[in-house]
Amino acid sequence: MRNKLLLCSVLILIFILTGCTGNDPDKNKKEKIDTKKVQEMSAYIGSEACISCHTETGQGFTMTSHANIFKPLDQYNLNWDQKVVIWDDANKENPAEKEINLKNSYGVMMDHYVVAKVDGFTKDLYRVAALEKTDQGFKIEAVSLKDYNSDNNQDWGAKAYTCADCHSPGLVAEGQGIKNLDAGISCETCHGPGSIHAQTKKKEAIDINEDACISCHTLGQPTEAKNGETLIAQNHYGTRNWFASDHYTSGYVNCLNCHTSHEVNVEGIMLNGTFEENCAKCHKGETFNIDEIMWKNPSDPYNHITRDHSFGAFSYDKLGDNPETKEIEITDLTTVRKLKSLMKDIK
Ligand code: HEC
Ligand code: HEC
Ligand code: HEC
Ligand code: HEC
Ligand code: HEC
Ligand code: HEC
Repeated sequence: MRNKLLLCSVLILIFILTGCTGNDPDKNKKEKIDTKKVQEMSAYIGSEACISCHTETGQGFTMTSHANIFKPLDQYNLNWDQKVVIWDDANKENPAEKEINLKNSYGVMMDHYVVAKVDGFTKDLYRVAALEKTDQGFKIEAVSLKDYNSDNNQDWGAKAYTCADCHSPGLVAEGQGIKNLDAGISCETCHGPGSIHAQTKKKEAIDINEDACISCHTLGQPTEAKNGETLIAQNHYGTRNWFASDHYTSGYVNCLNCHTSHEVNVEGIMLNGTFEENCAKCHKGETFNIDEIMWKNPSDPYNHITRDHSFGAFSYDKLGDNPETKEIEITDLTTVRKLKSLMKDIK
């Protein structure tokens, strides 16, 4: 069935490419291929298929943290063949109970959450267990513990998996019953589905989107605090305060002037060369202290430690990170005012 559909799409494409335009002379010129249209007709073929032709790019990609963001169970030396009883934590009114076997899970996100579909629960996907790193290796634990049925025993709660868009984009469709060959970040996450490109080898049939990074690494804008005066820092996406940098506002520099899409530097990071080499490409003769100009926040409540991307527009002390407080609140009012004036769409 799938093969037939594929063949059909390829035939239609050839139709478009050869410009079968009837007798109208004005339409006889070759039409430009509309990548978007071609991709709408394409199916996902999986990273392995892309890598079979693009071997060098594939080797680079496998080294990136993107490629390792969501791993299958067999990459962990653990006994997955075990049944656990879980409760639907996303349905607090009427939390259903269900016994599942962990070996039927899709895999593990960021070496931590075990993700599965649970038939009969209210959401598409669930975090059904968590891995904890110990000296002896990983061990399997509940995502949350609570006495749901008031029998004085702690029960396993399963929380809705709301992280898929960025942490396992391939699973987004899976939740709706569509098979995708890759659960995590794959070639097709950024380039779009590639069945037609793989057949025709036309570069116009595959997407190269320079904004591919922003959809997940959203610009790191702070959000307005409940009191309306202060701001809460956004540390999750690794791009804190990028919108305030001269790089961004000048309109000359984007992520890919410094970062790579499928290569890592000697430190294993997706950066063009080392830190020093990277800056020197444009800033001739200038030197920067990375820990000063791109300081690491001391960590937010979820232990995310990321580098500031304002490149000096804000100094660390003005932003007043305080790891002791529950949220990282920016209280210096001059800084708050400056941030607000720079932010285009504060939420
Ligand atoms: C059968 C071999 C083959 C397969 C499979 C294949 N490609 Fe390609 N790809 C090519 C060739 C050949 C080119 C060069 C086309 C050109 O320069 O006109 C190319 C070019 C590209 C380009 C560059 C486009 C540009 O503007 O320079 C991208 C991106 C790309 N492929 C991505 C992919 C992805 C993603 C997949 C998997 C979905 C894939 N390819 C599968 C052969 C393949
Ligand atoms: C995180 C997003 C992302 C992923 C994942 C990704 N690419 Fe790319 N790719 C890009 C972007 C953006 C460009 C264009 C600009 C650049 O690399 O500087 C690109 C360029 C390319 C090119 C053309 C230029 C070059 O570097 O050769 C090819 C071919 C390609 N990608 C293939 C692949 C294949 C094959 C995979 C999977 C193994 C893959 N890409 C995974 C974002 C991505
Ligand atoms: C589908 C969501 C998604 C897209 C698209 C995406 N990223 Fe990421 N990226 C992530 C996540 C999630 C992590 C965290 C991985 C980890 O810490 O193991 C990450 C980590 C990183 C890191 C830090 C780790 C490292 O290897 O250096 C860099 C740099 C990065 N991404 C750059 C990019 C760039 C550049 C692009 C666009 C070409 C991009 N990302 C597109 C989700 C995404
Ligand atoms: C809008 C996209 C997006 C969503 C949704 C999202 N994340 Fe992330 N997450 C990212 C990006 C991008 C990074 C990489 C940041 C970096 O490397 O600094 C990341 C990094 C992480 C890290 C690694 C942090 C570190 O410092 O190593 C963890 C853990 C994490 N996310 C957990 C989650 C969980 C749990 C959820 C769902 C409840 C979630 N994320 C939802 C984009 C997202
Ligand atoms: C002017 C250069 C430059 C630009 C532009 C830039 N970055 Fe970075 N980025 C860096 C450097 C340098 C590091 C630190 C690498 C290291 O730790 O060695 C970094 C680190 C990161 C990290 C890892 C943060 C952490 O510590 O967990 C992520 C994620 C990231 N950048 C994403 C992005 C994205 C997405 C964009 C575009 C919105 C972007 N960067 C724009 C230079 C840049
Ligand atoms: C692709 C070229 C490019 C790269 C790579 C680059 N910069 Fe820049 N940088 C610029 C441009 C353009 C501006 C804006 C100049 C303006 O608006 O006046 C700028 C501005 C700055 C500023 C603002 C103040 C000043 O000195 O002008 C700092 C700080 C800075 N960059 C640091 C860095 C650091 C650190 C790195 C390496 C991680 C880096 N840049 C990499 C092009 C680049």
